[in-house]
Amino acid sequence: MDNAFLDRNLALEAVRVTEAAALSSSLHMGRGNEKSADLAAVNAMRSFLNSLPIDGKVIIGEGERDKAPMLYIGEKVGKGGPKVDIALDPLEGTTITAHGGENALSVLAMSEEGGFLHAPDIYMHKIAYGKKYEDLNIDPSSPTKEIIKSFAKYADLKIENIVICILDRPRHEVLINEVRQTGARIKLIPDGDVSAVIATSIEDSGVDIYMGIGGSPEGVLAAAALRCIGGKMYSKLIFKDENEKERASTMGIKDFNKIYTTNELASGDVMFSATGVTDGTLLKGVLIKNNTARTQSVVMRSKSKTLRYVTALHDINIKSII
Ligand code: FBP
Repeated sequence: MDNAFLDRNLALEAVRVTEAAALSSSLHMGRGNEKSADLAAVNAMRSFLNSLPIDGKVIIGEGERDKAPMLYIGEKVGKGGPKVDIALDPLEGTTITAHGGENALSVLAMSEEGGFLHAPDIYMHKIAYGKKYEDLNIDPSSPTKEIIKSFAKYADLKIENIVICILDRPRHEVLINEVRQTGARIKLIPDGDVSAVIATSIEDSGVDIYMGIGGSPEGVLAAAALRCIGGKMYSKLIFKDENEKERASTMGIKDFNKIYTTNELASGDVMFSATGVTDGTLLKGVLIKNNTARTQSVVMRSKSKTLRYVTALHDINIKSII
C-alpha cells in the first residue's frame, strides 16, 4: 500500500508541526493566560499543517465548527496529497502552560482515512497500562480492587508497589479512596492525561496504570501513541445529557455503552508526534535563550514501531512571535 504512512519523511514533517506549536505556546508559559497560550499553539499548528503534502481532515480537533474557528472537527488541512485523518491537540495542558507547570505537550496524530474514532468532545472513562502488560485482558467495568489485583498478579508486582496515575479532580474522590484501600499508591496530576497514559508504556516513568475520567479527544490521541509504542487502553464515553448523546449520534456513535479498546480508538497505520511545551515525564519543554530555542519531540509510527526522539535548535525572533 502506497500511502503517506510509508513516507518516513512525513513523520519528520509531523515533528515540525508540533515543534512550531510548542515553540509558539511556550512563549506564553507562566503568563497566566490560557487562551493566548492555546491560540498561539493553534495558529502555529494550523499554518504548518497547511504546508504539508497531504489531503488532511481533522477528526479530533479544537472542537465543533460553531465553537472552534480553527482546526475544528471536519476542517480540511494540507496542500494536497494522500488522504489522511488527523487528531490533534496543539496545546495539551493549557492550564499547565499558563501556570508554568509540568507535562504540557503539543500533539499531532495521523492515520489512514477512517482510523480515528469520531469522538465528541465529552468525557471518557479510561484505564491504561503499558506495553509489558498489554496481553492482560481485564473487565474494565469490574470493581477497582479487582482490576488492580488482576494487574498485580499478571505483572508479578506487590500491590503496594503499583502506582496509579489519576487526574486530581473532585469527581475522582471515590476512585481515589478505592485505590487507596487496595494499598496501591497514587500519582495525582493536575492536568495532561495524554502524557499520563503514554507514561504507562515508558520504562521507569514511575506510572503503572492510568485510571479515571478525562477528555475523549485526549483518549483518542493517547490511544494513537499506544498503537505505536505498545500498551493497552479501555475507554467508555460518558454522556452527561441527551444533547451529548445526540451530538455523538451525529458523529456515528450508536452504542452509548460501548467499551472501546486501543485499536477501536485508533486503527490502521498511525503516526504520532509530540513536542514538550513544559518539562515533563516524557519530554523536556522548550528551552528559550534569547534568540534560540531548543525543543524536544518524540515521533512514533505504528507500522515500524519506531520511536525517535528529536532535539532541535531553532533560531527565533521572540518579539515577532509574542
Ligand atoms: P486542555 O489542554 O484542553 O486544558 O486539557 C487538559 C486536560 O487535563 C486533559 O489532559 C484531560 O483529558 C482533560 O483536561 C480533563 O478535563 P477537565 O479539566 O475538565 O477535568
